[in-house]
Amino acid sequence: MERIAELTILSTDDKEAIDLPRTSVDELVEGKKRLYIESYGCQMNFSDSEIVAAVMRNAGFATTSSAEDADVIFLNTCAIRDNAEQKVRHRLKQLNTYKKKKPELMVGMLGCMAERLKTKLLEEEHIVDIVAGPDAYRDIPKLVEEAETGQKAVNVFLSREETYADIAPIRLNSNGITAFISIMRGCDNMCSFCVVPFTRGRERSRDPYSIVREAEQLFADGYKEVTLLGQNVDSYKWQSDNAESVTFADLLARVASVHPDLRVRFSTSHPKDITDEVLHTIARFDNICNYIHLPAQSGNSRILELMNRTYDREWYLQKIDRIRAILGEECGISHDMISGFCSETEEEHQDTLSLMEYARYDYGYMFAYSERPGTLAAKKYKDDVPEDVKKRRLSEIIALQQRLSLERNQRHIGQIHRVLAEGPSKRSDADLSGRNDQNKVVVFPRGTFKKGDYVNVLITECSSATLIGTVV
Ligand code: SAH
Ligand code: SF4
Ligand code: F3S
Repeated sequence: MERIAELTILSTDDKEAIDLPRTSVDELVEGKKRLYIESYGCQMNFSDSEIVAAVMRNAGFATTSSAEDADVIFLNTCAIRDNAEQKVRHRLKQLNTYKKKKPELMVGMLGCMAERLKTKLLEEEHIVDIVAGPDAYRDIPKLVEEAETGQKAVNVFLSREETYADIAPIRLNSNGITAFISIMRGCDNMCSFCVVPFTRGRERSRDPYSIVREAEQLFADGYKEVTLLGQNVDSYKWQSDNAESVTFADLLARVASVHPDLRVRFSTSHPKDITDEVLHTIARFDNICNYIHLPAQSGNSRILELMNRTYDREWYLQKIDRIRAILGEECGISHDMISGFCSETEEEHQDTLSLMEYARYDYGYMFAYSERPGTLAAKKYKDDVPEDVKKRRLSEIIALQQRLSLERNQRHIGQIHRVLAEGPSKRSDADLSGRNDQNKVVVFPRGTFKKGDYVNVLITECSSATLIGTVV
C-alpha cells in the first residue's frame, strides 16, 4: 500500500522517507488562512489528505506548499512500524521552531498515529493542538475553530459508514496524469502484527457510482491512470437498498469501461480474497494493468498461522500459479515481507527465501518486524528474534529481491512495452519517465512526446529498478 516514487528496492527505513510529501498546491490566498499538509505512510493517507484539503477549502482555507507561511499545519501520520512514528515525532520537533516564531500557528495530527495514541498525543507532544482520526475529517474545521479558542481539540471516533464518497478530493502533489481513488476504508482482517484494524476501524465499501463518477471526472480533467485503493480491495462488496450487489471484479470492469485510455491499477490484494473472477477481469480489459501486489509476509506456514494471515504456504503458491495461468508469465507480481516475526527460526526464514524464488517477484516491500502495542502479536507472542538477526534476515530478503528484480527485468529486453509518460526522468530532461503495464519505471528519449502520452518503447537495457528503451 505504501507510496513509491520509483521502482527502487526499499527497506523498512527508507520506505516512508522517499520525500517530504507536502501540499504542493499554492492557491490564491488573499484574505484566507493557509493550510499546509504533510502525509506519511501508505497511499490511503495521501488520498485522505486530498479529502482533508477539500474539507478545509470549503471552510475557507487555501493550501500552501510552505510550512513556514501556514496558519495551520497538519501531519497525516502512520503507525505501521515504530520508525514511522519516530519520524513524525522528529518532525514535530522541527515544527516547534515555527510555533515559537508564530504562537498562533495551529498544529494538527491526523491519521493512524493520531487514532492510535488519541489524547495521549497531547500529553506527550505539547506542540499539538488538534488530534483527528481517519474517520473524523469532516469535523476538522470545527476542531480548528475550537483550538483557536485556546483549548485542545480531539475527535478520534471511528465510523462504520464513513467513506467520504461525496467529497471531491483536491489533488495534491499531482502530476496531472495519475490519481488515487479510495474505494473502501478500514480492515477486518486482524493480522496479528498489524495496527491498521485499530487505527482505521471496520471495513466498509464506497458506493460504486461515486467511484465511477470520480474516475470519469479525472479522465475528463486529462488524467490517464487511476489506482483503486483499499487495505484489502478484493473484499470490496457493496449492496444497494434494492439488493444490487457489486463485487470487486464488477467494480474493476465498471471503472475500466470509463475509457480504454484510462488505465486502472489497484492495491492491495489479500491472497485469501483475490478470486479467479478478478484475474479474468484483468485479462479481459487491456486497460487494467497486468500487475498484482500480493503481500505474502512469510513463506512459512507456521509463521503465517501465528500472523493470522488465514492462508498457508501452499495456498499462497497456488495463487501465484493461478495468476501465471490466467494472466501469463509476464504479469507483474510484487510482495510485502516481514523478517524476524516472533519465534521465527532460521529454517523458517529459509522458507521465505524459497517462496520468493518460486514466485519470481518483480518487486518487493520488505520490513523487519516491529512490535505494535495493542496488537494480537504484542499480547500473545514474544518479540524474541534479536534485532541484529531481524536485520540480517531482512538484508538477505532484500538482496534476493534485487536479484529477482534484475532477472525479471532482463526478460523484458527486446520487448515492446506501452508506457504512460508521467514526466521528465530524474536524471535528464531529455528523457521521459513513465510506467508500463507491470508498474515498472521505463525511461526513454523525449522526442516530441509529453507527459500523458502512451508511447511504445523497445526495451534495450535495464537495472534491477528501471527499464531503458527507445521509442518505436
Ligand atoms: N493491507 C495490506 C498491508 C498494509 S500495511 C495487506 O494486508 O497487504 C503494509 C505492510 O506493512 C504489510 O503488508 C506488512 O508487510 C507491513 N507491516 C505491517 N505491520 C508491520 C509490523 N508490525 N512490523 C513490520 N512490518 C509490518
Ligand atoms: Fe493489516 Fe492484515 Fe489488514 Fe493488511 S490485511 S491492513 S496486514 S490487518
Ligand atoms: Fe497506512 Fe500507516 Fe495507517 S500504512 S493505514 S497510514 S498505519
